[in-house]
Amino acid sequence: MAILKIARIGHPVLHQKAAPVDDPAHPEVRALVRDMIETLDDAGGIGLAAPQVHVPKRIVIFFVPGDRENSEGDAVEVDLTVLFNPEIEPVGGEKSLDWEACLSVPEMMGAVPRFAAIRYRWLSLDGETMERTAEGFHARAVQHECDHLDGILYPMRMDDLSLFGFAEEVNRNKDMLAALQPKPRPRPEADL
Ligand code: NI
Repeated sequence: MAILKIARIGHPVLHQKAAPVDDPAHPEVRALVRDMIETLDDAGGIGLAAPQVHVPKRIVIFFVPGDRENSEGDAVEVDLTVLFNPEIEPVGGEKSLDWEACLSVPEMMGAVPRFAAIRYRWLSLDGETMERTAEGFHARAVQHECDHLDGILYPMRMDDLSLFGFAEEVNRNKDMLAALQPKPRPRPEADL
């Protein structure tokens, strides 16, 4: 087990397309996933993609804490999930705007449009094909993480850069926060 170094925006590993994983059960892949889980826990984030730890492979880990809500305001909690070669399909096509942060864009946060509902498929640790639907924060987290596999960081998805800034400043700037009302208050600790 090891805590891995997290790449920051500008590093080429974050700006390239990652390669599919052929065998999720391979011991080296298992070891990488264990290290990613330890790294995520140490960093205090809720999601991490392999390119963020300098490994250009299509692997994502994430969970949704119990204090998150879906679009109807119901609590949504998702246990730690490991995704290999995930694929996302929007459901409906409606987009929503909410705050995001990223371990690879430290100290910053921004309001990002994302599909409000998605269906996603992936290979599990056991090599099984899995499928889920997701909405609200769950859908947002999966879209954010899977973007990392295609070299996309959340600022590249923003359409209004006036809603981008240091989390410390945004959190005390009532005008910026109000721009997304009645959305939930931003939680800059939610590094994806
Ligand atoms: Ni991220």
